[in-house]
Amino acid sequence: MRKVAVIGVGCTPFGEKWETSFRNLFVDAGARALEDAAISGEQIDELFVGNMSAGRFVDQEHIGALIADYAGLATKHVPSTRVEAACSSGGLAFRQAVTAVASGNADIVVAAGVEKMTDVGTGATVDTLAGAADREWEGFPGATFPGLYAMIARDYMHRFGLTREQLAMVAVKNHRNGARNPNAQFQKEISIDTVMQSSLVADPLRLFDCSPITDGAAAVIVAPLERAREFTDTPIQVLSSAQASDTIALHDRRDISTLDATVAAANRAFQLARLERKDIDMVEVHDCFTIAEICAIEDLGFCSKGEAGRLTEEGYTALDGTLPVNPSGGLKACGHPVGATGIKQVYEIVMQLRGEASGRQVDGEIGMTHNVGGTGATVVCSILGVV
Ligand code: COA
Repeated sequence: MRKVAVIGVGCTPFGEKWETSFRNLFVDAGARALEDAAISGEQIDELFVGNMSAGRFVDQEHIGALIADYAGLATKHVPSTRVEAACSSGGLAFRQAVTAVASGNADIVVAAGVEKMTDVGTGATVDTLAGAADREWEGFPGATFPGLYAMIARDYMHRFGLTREQLAMVAVKNHRNGARNPNAQFQKEISIDTVMQSSLVADPLRLFDCSPITDGAAAVIVAPLERAREFTDTPIQVLSSAQASDTIALHDRRDISTLDATVAAANRAFQLARLERKDIDMVEVHDCFTIAEICAIEDLGFCSKGEAGRLTEEGYTALDGTLPVNPSGGLKACGHPVGATGIKQVYEIVMQLRGEASGRQVDGEIGMTHNVGGTGATVVCSILGVV
């Protein structure tokens, strides 16, 4: 297998983009990535596009072809594939692109993610998202994503003594980071009181424990490492990209507060990269709800079960902490356009490793991404490093 590097990245600002169409969100992110890699569209061999549910959000299917067309690549007949794995669609598109280059099937490959969620109302969005869980056993009886993660939070708080305040501290930290990210949906710091006094969504989760509903797109371009310096002075090597799956329904899990697919994908990613947990300098985790970040830090192996709340309280995961978690602001503050999130995570780690993350820059040479589909039925973990 060939070694692979990221040679260009692009990301749109995240938020409610009522003035921009689905396709133009992608075109914007793609153009930024091409400009960053200083290449033209003509040089692209293949595209993988992460998208969860354009059919329900904007009434558009056949996303691979649409994206190739609006990227100006239709008449060149470039292969373009939509990748769907709910909220981990972006992370999986990245893994597919890396595999295409590693295998020698293609040289210059775009991995993108796009979602436009705000063209329908909140009820319709929440219902569409519920399709990422088990519709028959969870969705139809009324379990929404906030509801499912609320069950995880209740179980975890009961077993490990996590306090409501510690949960709020995850949101406070991520809003502090998001306030330093010009692409973030929420660029405003909040206090613990803001979280505690926000409206209850699904007990114990409040509004500020939830990631928001977001429009946005991101794109990264990968190439063989041996060719990377033709395009950029700062290639970032993909040290590994691993995927794991689990039962789609929460009630079928061995333990609802441990995402076994995170454990499996992380173990595989570390094994492939021949690295240990202590080698990671920063990590973008899938904090779709505050409890999800707590579980992720533990399931990725950065601490034992039950410790992540205390570590968050002690500042271990802050921008200036031992292991900065979600320097971008995470899904909580940066926003969560579901199909785009996994690519935005790679974008953030690349910006950090290049030293281009300005107000939220952290030190380090190796970063990790963790992208979750549903309540953990699909997980993708990737590790990237400075060459
Ligand atoms: N965090 C902080 N503020 C939020 C927010 C969030 N998650 N969601 C909305 N807001 C703010 C809005 O900016 C708005 O503020 P303003 O009045 O100052 O403009 C206000 O709250 C009301 O926004 P609105 O769009 O009416 O909220 P909503 O009630 O439609 O949606 C949730 C709130 C929690 C239901 C929605 O964000 C949600 O479902 N989030 C979870 C998404 C999800 O499940 N993703 C998949 C995870 S796997």
